[in-house]
Order: sequence, then C-alpha cells, then structure tokens
Amino acid sequence: MKNVLVIGGGGREHAIVYSISKSDKVGKIYCAPGNAGIAELAECHPEIKATDIDAVLAFVEAHEDIYLTVVAPDDPLAAGMVDRLEAAGHRAFGPRANAARLEASKSFAKDLMKKYGIPTAAYEVFTEYESAAKYLETCSYPTVLKADGLALGKGVLICANKQEALDGLKEIMLDKAFGSAGNTLVIEDFLTGFECSALAFCDGKTIVPMTTSQDHKRALDGNKGLNTGGMGTFSPSYKVDKAMEKRIYDEVLLPTLKGLIAEGIEFKGVLYAGLMINGDKIKVLEYNARFGDPETQVILPRLATDLFDIFEACIDGTLDKIKIEWTGNAAVCVIAASGGYPEHYEKGKEISFGDMDGDIIVFHAGTATKDGKLVTSGGRVLGVTALAPTLKEARDKAYKNIKAVSFEKIHYRTDILKEL
Ligand code: AMP
Ligand code: GLY
Repeated sequence: MKNVLVIGGGGREHAIVYSISKSDKVGKIYCAPGNAGIAELAECHPEIKATDIDAVLAFVEAHEDIYLTVVAPDDPLAAGMVDRLEAAGHRAFGPRANAARLEASKSFAKDLMKKYGIPTAAYEVFTEYESAAKYLETCSYPTVLKADGLALGKGVLICANKQEALDGLKEIMLDKAFGSAGNTLVIEDFLTGFECSALAFCDGKTIVPMTTSQDHKRALDGNKGLNTGGMGTFSPSYKVDKAMEKRIYDEVLLPTLKGLIAEGIEFKGVLYAGLMINGDKIKVLEYNARFGDPETQVILPRLATDLFDIFEACIDGTLDKIKIEWTGNAAVCVIAASGGYPEHYEKGKEISFGDMDGDIIVFHAGTATKDGKLVTSGGRVLGVTALAPTLKEARDKAYKNIKAVSFEKIHYRTDILKEL
C-alpha cells in the first residue's frame, strides 16, 4: 500500500481523494489544506496552503511514507511545485511549470494553437494599452478580452460594444484588476455554440481522453450573472457523439500533444481543453493544465479504472499500456454556493443535511469544522453528485437531494439540464 498526498482543498480535490481512496493500492491519504469533507477520508493539514511550495516540500521531506504527491490546482502547478518536488527526488503527479504554461499564459497557448493548426478564435496579443485601444476601434463586436495570466477564472471579459471593451481594457491593463496577469492581453473573436470540457490524461507521449462533461460557469439560472468557478456539471455531454469525440481527439488533443512535443515540452498530467462547438466547428476556448472543478465531481465517480494506476502510468510514461474504462452511468453535480458568490458572501454558516439517497455523493469545497459543527468557509460550499442510468434521472436525483442541504443564504442553479 502506498501513501499519497493531495494538494488542494476544493470539491475537485475531494473527488480525487474519494477516487483514490477506493484503490486497494493506496494506504493513508494526506491532504493539504483539505476541507471538512476530505477530512473524513484523509489526514488534512489546513495550516499548509496549496500555493506554499516550501511548506509542501518540507511536509513531504518530513513524511518519508509519502510515495506520491498529486498537485491539483493551477497556481502551484504554474509556480513549479512539481518541478521542486521532483528536483528533491520526490514523485509527483501534474505538469511541470513549462507545461503548465498552457493554462498560465493565454498568449502562449494561443501561439501554440496557431503554430500547430489547432482550431481557435482569431486573436491578437498586446503588451501596450495604446495599441490595444487602437485595435478596439476597428474590431467587430462582441469581442473577448483575456488577461494573459491566471486570474481565478475571472480574467475573461466578453464586451458587447466598444465602450465596454475600452472600460475592460482599462480595468485589466491600467487598473491591474487581475494584477500582473493583465500585463499582456489577448483580444479574440467572440464565438457562439455550446461548450464542452474535454479532459485527457497525458504521459508526455500518449494522450487518453476522459469521458466528456459540461460546466455551467455563470452564477445564475439562464446563464445570467457573473462567471464563477463553475456552478454545475454533467457527464457525459449528450451533445457530443462518438464521431465528434473522435474529432476532438484528432483535431485538438493529439495535435496539442504533438505541438508540445515539437516545442520540447513534456506534458504529464491532466490536459483539459475547453471547447466551443458550433455545428461541425470545434474551437478551443482555453486550455487548463489540471482537472476541472466541478467537472471532476462528475467524471471521477464514473471512472471504472483505478485512478492511482492512471497517475502511475502518467508519471512512468506507460499510459499506452493501460485501458481506461468508464461506467455506463451518467452523473450530474449541482453546486451549493454561499449567497452573493462570486462577489461578497458570508462565511461561518452552519450546514445541515436532511435525508438523502444512500448513493448520493456530497463533495465538499468551502467547508470547515468550527466548535464541532460543520460550517461554510468559501464561495462554492459543496456539490451534490448523483449517478443514474440516464442524465435525466441523475438530474432529478441531484435536485431532489440538494433540497436536503441547508445553510443560511444557500444558492444553487435550478436549471442544470433543464432542457432534457
Ligand atoms: P476561459 O477562461 O478562456 O475558458 O473563459 C471563460 C469563459 O468565457 C468560457 O467558458 C466561455 O464561456 C467564455 N469565453 C471565453 N472565450 C470566449 C470566446 N472567444 N467567445 C465566446 N465566449 C468565450
Ligand atoms: N470548471 C472550469 C475549470 O475548472 O476551469
């Protein structure tokens, strides 16, 4: 049995811990910082921040029993946590900093797509406010402004007209609303269609798609309100058939891997292409260099293969030797958030659960234990994942069960898969 440390403390990390806890090869699980739900499966270390590379390295050095560290969030990957762990002789799952740039720099990602013929929206890159403002005079609207660096999923502005775009440009490049992430700006064409999250495991040489999923980014029903980290997901995406899945592999995932190899970059970990699909057109909106949140909460419960074996294969470069299988179930996850998220919201509200179906999975995100009670401690509080033979049944089950969750000012979208 091997002991594993998971870095992160959201719903995604809860789903990773849940999945590896089922492996008969995994012994003790540690998680830093973790949350109140993860604490039921793992020894959590809330004193260690997911971004604190020194503290994580010190923890791994002090615990010789840790065989593998799984780095789940974007910032520590971009900051080189895997590089540091490996340099000190430790085993880690996740891309190194040079590969994590695929997510951490939008201009790097766009240039890679252009160079290797991967379909994406037409774009321009700017490092100076004046030239970007000049471009906005002549471009067509709506247009999309993207801060180059990591901005907690908030660095993308969709601007309906020139005035909105000029205001957004000022916010990003002059007021530095996203800090240094806005030193470089990508302006790209606005795309329409439906979105699909195409995640894949990658060992540097082979890329194996996971099952498809779809997120709902806006805070409110009807895709209204602000962009959030994600308010609900379903898997598989019923809008993507087998032929489209094959095209996603042939036209996006494989060419991305080949492009990275040609650039001398070894990508080991989870490669996630956020796609916009319109008719027979597939375009990449963005890459992430990690599992999605809350996509992971619907993907991993459907995984039939041992996740620990997959992590091992990604690190060892043996992904071509294992078969990755999915259960026939469909999954739906509805996120319960604190009222006001993604802007101002209160924390410390007591969470209680009424009767729920026995096979419902509650993945915790912003939860903590205070004076022996379970309380809210973040914007996205938890996700209720339901599995069922069809998406429609999974949706009904998720909504029936989320009614049993209560805390003051709970907010969740009521329209996930409403169209079915
Ligand atoms: P990103 O962080 O690049 O995925 O952008 C966040 C969200 O903004 C996406 O999930 C889309 O909903 C939207 N978005 C990003 N780029 C575009 C685009 N070129 N056209 C339309 N919507 C976009
Ligand atoms: N659910 C979107 C993301 O993880 O970036």
